[in-house]
Amino acid sequence: MKMLPPVSHPNLLVGTGTADDAGVYRLSDNLALVNTVDVITPLVDSPYDFGQIAAANSLSDIYAMGGQPVTALNILGFSPQKVDLEIVAEIIRGATDKADEAGCPIVGGHTIKDEELKIGLAVTGTIDPGKIIRNSTARAGDKLILTKPLGMGIMTTALKAGKLTEPEIERITGVMVQLNRVASELMVRFGAHAATDVTGFGLLGHAHEIARGSGVGLRLDAGAIPYLPEAMARTRKSGFISGGTVKNKEFLEEFVSFSAEVDKHERMIFFDAQTSGGLLISVAAEAAGKLLTALHGEGVEEAVVIGEVTVENAGNIIVDK
Ligand code: CO
Ligand code: CO
Repeated sequence: MKMLPPVSHPNLLVGTGTADDAGVYRLSDNLALVNTVDVITPLVDSPYDFGQIAAANSLSDIYAMGGQPVTALNILGFSPQKVDLEIVAEIIRGATDKADEAGCPIVGGHTIKDEELKIGLAVTGTIDPGKIIRNSTARAGDKLILTKPLGMGIMTTALKAGKLTEPEIERITGVMVQLNRVASELMVRFGAHAATDVTGFGLLGHAHEIARGSGVGLRLDAGAIPYLPEAMARTRKSGFISGGTVKNKEFLEEFVSFSAEVDKHERMIFFDAQTSGGLLISVAAEAAGKLLTALHGEGVEEAVVIGEVTVENAGNIIVDK
């Protein structure tokens, strides 16, 4: 997108000029559309779960803006020679059930022949134009809350190598199918200043977008950042670092300084590319405790404060212990 000129229109409230999660277009003074699309390739063996994860992942960008998803379109690519129609039907059933859970009917879609199986949703949501939560409006003094644990990239890479146990597969599936809906509703209610969802660029990549966009620094407490212990154990033993994570590390290293106590395996988890990750929320320090209590009370049990927003060090991140 950087190669294209930014799109502008009088009603375009959030466009391609910032690295935000979705576009926002004003229809009237109190109603705007939120638009996003995301497509993924298989991460787990169960076609139904893959469909659910794809839908939760696509819906997440609407939630990251503080919007409500309204309708969605399926985008599906598969090769009829390689994939049975029953499998395709299961994928769509998973996506449909997850979209239903979000109160967002899938009203149509498009299928193309594709050598590599993939599915995603184009989602349309709505939002009050006065309540858009961007990723470029964090304020110094804010606390940062992360709502899901990291390590999905390492775990799905290990899964592809046939190295995960059944309980481990259930654990990562449970994390990835969880909608960010409750987290989104609560962050809006508690007046969050900024947010994004943690996906392909990893925690540090998406945190960097908040820092750069907002002109602030971030300080993260490595000891507080949640991740699956299984992911740490596996990466210490055998790596399982995805190509996306390697790229994240290369791109981000100049913006991140780690203290010596943060070991190289922890660093990789913080760079780890996620699918359907949690929300990273920047909220006033006075509201952070109340938001966290509400998150825990309404089922977002793994949410934790992982750091804070600083005046100094604008655009950059310090990770210490
Ligand atoms: Co996003
Ligand atoms: Co996205």
